[in-house]
Amino acid sequence: MNVRDLLNTKAEAALEAAGCPPGTAAIVGPATRPEFGDYQANGALGAAKRMKANPRELAQRTVDAMALDDIATCAVTGPGFISLTLADTFLGEVLAQDTGIERTGAGQRIVIDYSHPNLAKEMHVGHLRSTIIGDALARTLEALGYEVVRQNHVGDWGTGFGMLVAHLGDVERAGDPGREELKDLERFYQEARRRFAEDESFAERARDVVVRLQQGDDEMGAIWQRYIDISMSHCQEVYDLLGVSLTPRDVRGESAYNDDLDTVVEELSEAGLLTEDAGALCVFLDEFRGRDGKITPVIVRKSDGGYLYHSTDLAAVRYRVRELAADRVLYVVDARQALHFRQLFAVCKEAGYDGSASLEHHPFGVMQGPGGRPFATRDGNVMRLTDLLTEAIDRAREVVAEKSPHLGADEQARVARVVGIGAVKYADLSKNRTSDYVFDWQAMLSFDGNTAPYLQYAYARIQSLFRRGGVDAESLTGMPTIDTPEEHMLALTLARRQETLEQVAAQAMPHFLCAWLYDLASAFMRFYENCPVLEEGPTHNSRLLLCRSTADGIRTGLGLLGIETVERM
Ligand code: ARG
Repeated sequence: MNVRDLLNTKAEAALEAAGCPPGTAAIVGPATRPEFGDYQANGALGAAKRMKANPRELAQRTVDAMALDDIATCAVTGPGFISLTLADTFLGEVLAQDTGIERTGAGQRIVIDYSHPNLAKEMHVGHLRSTIIGDALARTLEALGYEVVRQNHVGDWGTGFGMLVAHLGDVERAGDPGREELKDLERFYQEARRRFAEDESFAERARDVVVRLQQGDDEMGAIWQRYIDISMSHCQEVYDLLGVSLTPRDVRGESAYNDDLDTVVEELSEAGLLTEDAGALCVFLDEFRGRDGKITPVIVRKSDGGYLYHSTDLAAVRYRVRELAADRVLYVVDARQALHFRQLFAVCKEAGYDGSASLEHHPFGVMQGPGGRPFATRDGNVMRLTDLLTEAIDRAREVVAEKSPHLGADEQARVARVVGIGAVKYADLSKNRTSDYVFDWQAMLSFDGNTAPYLQYAYARIQSLFRRGGVDAESLTGMPTIDTPEEHMLALTLARRQETLEQVAAQAMPHFLCAWLYDLASAFMRFYENCPVLEEGPTHNSRLLLCRSTADGIRTGLGLLGIETVERM
């Protein structure tokens, strides 16, 4: 149940009964201070201003009109807030009736464009953020019943591939199937570049390869495909290590739109959007003026007939809206591409490509290395992602050996993998994605604070409690009785799951789910310290039920972020 929506509806009815115009927003949210109760409604303040009424008086009239039943107390606080505290019996019922996440998104289709590495080079940290955030969104939206279509818009096309394909062709002709060479994509790329810069006849051939690829030449296409397969298998290695839900079926790269580009030009031209500028076809939109007052155009086709990043993205929107019938398209892409997406969406709107779909860029900041420096290896090279993830597992192994010496070697290794990968993902997901963040091994692997190990440990601790008490958690029945303040807080947090997930879906922001998980584990720890659980007596069954709900909440919540749990730590 979405408790917040329920209170909002009630508060809106009460505002109307208190004399506000119908539809006055109640603005219910979690209370900002403990003395304001569980939730707080702020709508009376703004309404009073518009109605030129006294805010506290209007708030009091609203309180008087409020239908109480589920609510224990309702009072005016501060300048005219309404604070709401839920009844303990209501919380008990909400938990007892909980049959899992409600599928409020059923019938809606959401395309998520994420990960999308450039296959010419090794996948790097920038793509790690997109992969982790996009995957958490995909899982969460799916759990809410949305039909999610993952689109891995890999960079697999364009001029850069001419030299790679030409170079690979030469390597293969020299007898090497190319697999050895392509083990290190970065080196292969540098090698092809060097030849391109130093050898004019090679450069000539490389340019010719681009043209032949665009014309659908079979021989070049086959070499290109071999290159792509190997590069993509490097990415899949990272996905598998990360436990990301992307599969080869989700790949629809830039090359997939090659045949649609001419049509895009025709359609934009028919819509009267194209202007020729020094031979290039451009869209000039008034809203994109640079500092010099001149319009920054969107170049759809270059003067040599070549296409660009924008052209492909136009074709991709067209495909996603028309063929995939998306209701929303989420682009989980680096904040530095903000202008690209604003321009893209504006052109799509002019061309009618967006239909009734909502096109949304959900940016994220840069991942910085220790000390806020750019992320690189010690010698200044790009950090291979598999190396980074292997290091995470190695470091977690040390922590696990120290914290859980009682586990056997195999189990320690398994826990280290779950903790290490979980730590990397959670450190990224728990921050508001729009800001940059500093990658910090110590902080992410800490067992204190808002970290994956803290949550995983809380989960394992509940399981160990069940083992100690000989409790079969699955067979517990009945309704929890909420009595102490710690139980109230824990039950309240549990009851907020649905509204939290809906907020993650609406804003495409996984950190709300992390904040909820942290609140849940913290509320549990306080409950556990103050409320004996295994003590026989009237509270026994009820408290075990709370433990079970907490464990379920942590396990499923982490699962939606793509993070695993273990039964023992
Ligand atoms: N491959 C691009 C990059 O690495 C990101 C692609 C983002 N998606 C899109 N539809 N433009 O910068």
